[in-house]
Amino acid sequence: MIKVPRGTQDILPEQSFKWQTVEAIIRDTCNVYQYKEIRTPIFEHTELFTRSVGDTTDIVQKEMYTFEDRGNRSLTLRPEGTASTVRAYVEHKLFGQPDQPVKLYYMGPMFRYERQQAGRYRQFVQFGIEAIGSADAAVDAEVIALAMDVYKKAGLKDIKLVLNSLGDTESRTAHKEALVAHFAPRIDEFCGDCQQRLEKNPLRILDCKKDRDHELMASAPQLTDYLNEESAAYFERIKAYLEALDISYELDPNLVRGLDYYNHTAFEIMSTASGFGAITTLAGGGRYNGLVEELGGPSSPGIGFAMSIERLLLALEAEQVEIEDNSASDAYVIALGDVPKLEAMKIVKSLRDSGISAEMDYADRKLKAQMKSADRKKSQFVFILGEDELNSRSVQIKELATGDQQMVAIEEAVSYLQQKMNTKEATQ
Ligand code: HAM
Repeated sequence: MIKVPRGTQDILPEQSFKWQTVEAIIRDTCNVYQYKEIRTPIFEHTELFTRSVGDTTDIVQKEMYTFEDRGNRSLTLRPEGTASTVRAYVEHKLFGQPDQPVKLYYMGPMFRYERQQAGRYRQFVQFGIEAIGSADAAVDAEVIALAMDVYKKAGLKDIKLVLNSLGDTESRTAHKEALVAHFAPRIDEFCGDCQQRLEKNPLRILDCKKDRDHELMASAPQLTDYLNEESAAYFERIKAYLEALDISYELDPNLVRGLDYYNHTAFEIMSTASGFGAITTLAGGGRYNGLVEELGGPSSPGIGFAMSIERLLLALEAEQVEIEDNSASDAYVIALGDVPKLEAMKIVKSLRDSGISAEMDYADRKLKAQMKSADRKKSQFVFILGEDELNSRSVQIKELATGDQQMVAIEEAVSYLQQKMNTKEATQ
């Protein structure tokens, strides 16, 4: 038997309605905050990710699905959405639009060759937003507020915001020098990756999964101690905006994020629910001033975040938040015999034409079996159409919840049901 590839999953109807609910909350929240959807290709030129995510990161070094196409181009299934969004911002000259920042969101599959475990997949769906073209700290607060709102509207309570500042280039250079001085004398005690990182990007050492318990990690110089005046002031403004929005946060100077394009603001939203797996990060994001230039555009500072729908659903499960399935059919039309079946098909069609969800039996089963189906499908109303009803051009309509039953002329069946459903809605 051929099974799904490791790290991927099928989302069957008993789960997909939850995805749809969450996706609707996301789209609605983006609309409320005035972020517009962007759809970019699933694969991009490999160079896009090496240049933006960074060639010393785990994502680029170990996790990309890279392949050569028939024209010998190196392409990569996107591991994240920021690089593609910024590429599109540059390619379509969105920096020329009068209203900056340009506020974009995306939702779609991303691919990373990671070790499979709870909450970590090789194909996962990321929802992310990017606000590009403004360095206003108020935008940072807006981006964080949107992420928190999505979780709140979905029903999560046990979440926390963790915040850090990575500073500007000057602050980072000062910190980098301090890191090199700290690690260099004993770098041979670290893994091969870290030895390379010392030269290329010492900050990445702090993110190493293999060496995280080495004693030099805990005593490493912290970036927040190296923030210059401007970076520190910027960080203070963000905190003030967050406080104004009543968003509480925890500071974590060790939050460095796993991608290279960040500076200034870095944040993650974690689940604090007991029973949530080992990976507690639900969303991550930050500022990336300089990335637009790196990809060939003019100076346009940006900030964004991304979250996977998979982890959001896991967090909802951990907090035992129920998502209601509103997809049950309104009507189930039971036909008893060949001639009634012809008429039943017409009734089903006219119900559907009026926007009423309707189902019927396609196995010519007996009344009892069809009634059971209607019950399983949680239909609100059952139509029964046998030879007798047909002879009098009428149909029996039964409301399953109350047991009320009425004989209604076939021609009036749709309007009768509409009326019933309207009064039901009005009293709910
Ligand atoms: P990231 O931290 O690599 O950031 O991923 C963001 C989120 O994607 C994670 O917090 C998690 O919810 C989800 N995620 C990542 N990998 C997996 C996986 N293997 N399985 C399930 N979920 C996963 C970024 O991707 C940045 N582009 C975020 C960003 C946008 N920064 C600025 N703008």
